[in-house]
Amino acid sequence: MREQLHKIYQDAAIDISGAKKPEALFDIEKKYLGRKGKLTEILKSLKNIDENERGSIGQEANQIKKDLEKLISEKGKALSSGHEEWTIDPTLSGKKQHVGSLHILTQVRQQIEDIFLSMGFSIADGPEIENEFYNFDALNIPPHHPVRDMQDTFFVKKSGKEKLALRSQTSAIQARYMKTHKPPFKIISPGRCFRNESVDSTHEHTFYQFEALVVGDDINVGHLKQLAQDFFSAFFQQDVRVRLRPSYFPFTEPSFEFDISCLVCGHDGCSACKHAGWIELGGAGMVNQNVFVAAGYPRNKYQGFAWGFGLERLAMMKYKINDVRLFHGGDLRFIRQF
Ligand code: FA5
Repeated sequence: MREQLHKIYQDAAIDISGAKKPEALFDIEKKYLGRKGKLTEILKSLKNIDENERGSIGQEANQIKKDLEKLISEKGKALSSGHEEWTIDPTLSGKKQHVGSLHILTQVRQQIEDIFLSMGFSIADGPEIENEFYNFDALNIPPHHPVRDMQDTFFVKKSGKEKLALRSQTSAIQARYMKTHKPPFKIISPGRCFRNESVDSTHEHTFYQFEALVVGDDINVGHLKQLAQDFFSAFFQQDVRVRLRPSYFPFTEPSFEFDISCLVCGHDGCSACKHAGWIELGGAGMVNQNVFVAAGYPRNKYQGFAWGFGLERLAMMKYKINDVRLFHGGDLRFIRQF
């Protein structure tokens, strides 16, 4: 049996040194050390030999097994490091790998968050399926207001007593935040919104807004304008013309519409700005005292301003994209540019 063992060792050593590819080593390992391998068979048959010899032959067989495993592992390392016959051919053409990237809207959201975090703001969040109280009542939107109409809001089938809707604006997050926090504070809340819109180059049924809310003592419209100016300059890395137009929102008084000069056409008029030279980015205003009262604050104790900007509109301006439908259109040629 000893001779048999030595023969197996010699044969295996010759096979191992002759292996040209790592895969060949798998076969050699199977041939000698596998479940039905030559050395394994010998180890299995030890039980049939004389008890006096069994111990020393067993030891020898186990040592040979260890030696062969070591030879195989060393040879494997030598082959895969290219020091042996098996080498990589660098002249072969490679396979093209597509490296994934963050969606452009995610990148823009992160840029916005970075700017506001650097100015000491916190980031707040809220649910996309919202109840009527936070989406409307707490924002001073009375039950008869047309914005509640099916034209604008996607209502969700009633579950129990609560009437639920897909959040139509991130202002719903304001109301939630104020219920649990006392002023002073400054927050932004980026989030997805849904509206029953007729879709065109500047309107989607699903889009992102980011809300800003600053509440404290002695906050006024000047702070709102300055913050917008600082933010736009940081975001676009250039001076941008800002236009504040009087508007109406139930949750702010006074209210404004925010426009910036169109960066796609440079104010000349193009499809991105519907040939107006200006693009509407969002609404803003001083928080209506009724909203503070709904949040549980005393009337007239605090002042604050809020805005809600469209994230897609900002991305369109910065990256000169002339159709909002491209963001969710699923065209990889568009997505892979960023
Ligand atoms: C609002 O939603 C208000 N909540 C904004 C606000 C917040 C006012 C806080 C006052 C205080 P508006 O409906 O105008 O306002 O929408 C704000 C911005 O969201 C728009 O200017 C636009 O940039 C973006 N937006 C609105 N609807 C769409 C849409 N269908 N597709 C893409 N962007 C949209």
